Amino acid sequence: MSAGNFRTPLIAGNWKMHTTLPEALALAAALGPGLERVTKVESVVCPPFVSLAAVADALRGSPVGVGAQDCYSEDKGAYTGEVSPAMLAGLCQYVILGHSERRQYQGETDDLINRKVVAALRHSLRPILCVGERLEENEAGHTSEVVERQIRRGLQGIADPAGLVVAYEPVWAIGTGRSATGAQAGEVAGLIRRLLGELWGANAAAATRILYGGSVTAANIDEFAALPDIDGGLVGGASLRADEFVAIVERTASHAG
Ligand code: PGA
Repeated sequence: MSAGNFRTPLIAGNWKMHTTLPEALALAAALGPGLERVTKVESVVCPPFVSLAAVADALRGSPVGVGAQDCYSEDKGAYTGEVSPAMLAGLCQYVILGHSERRQYQGETDDLINRKVVAALRHSLRPILCVGERLEENEAGHTSEVVERQIRRGLQGIADPAGLVVAYEPVWAIGTGRSATGAQAGEVAGLIRRLLGELWGANAAAATRILYGGSVTAANIDEFAALPDIDGGLVGGASLRADEFVAIVERTASHAG
């Protein structure tokens, strides 16, 4: 984040399919004191749906926000097992959409993800849209093309992106301990910002936060947080350890203007 950057950095913890309700509450309680000390960085945790309301209750009044890990594209109806953005509105502020694990294991397409983003924005939820190339796409030199397609299709038809966050998460870096380099992530973040500018103009592009995700730890967050086009991180594994997550937020704050 460069000096004078007006975007507030964001560190979002994606707990994925981890934590029972008691474990989620214990993790939220352990985060509170550490995160309350940090200014200049917004921190958000994204617990499993079953713990969302309880974690939101536990963190109410603290500076730590809450997000969901997914939502459906419809407000209500006969969609067994799905959770609608209308149900999440008021309960949490953010929703992760298009995560590569959902693209891979649930077969989510750019078109479905687009409908989810539109639905989330309609309910004033802030989508964290995840994009990123797979290893074979990276090795074939197709990173820009893949990310451009995911951005254009995932965001099509959206008139006002206010609240939108984009996370660049190269699939080969997720959960592997092999993060991208700052140079790689910065280049793709720059591409994403240019694409956002083409879609909505320079002001909206400049106001949109772009995160890096993929094996982020307290030891490597500086490499990303120091870059002008990267405004924080989407953190998986490391977000399950309270001290590590707090340290990531603290490191990020040290780069914030
Ligand atoms: P990781 O996951 O930090 O465990 O690599 C990141 C993510 O999937 O959002």
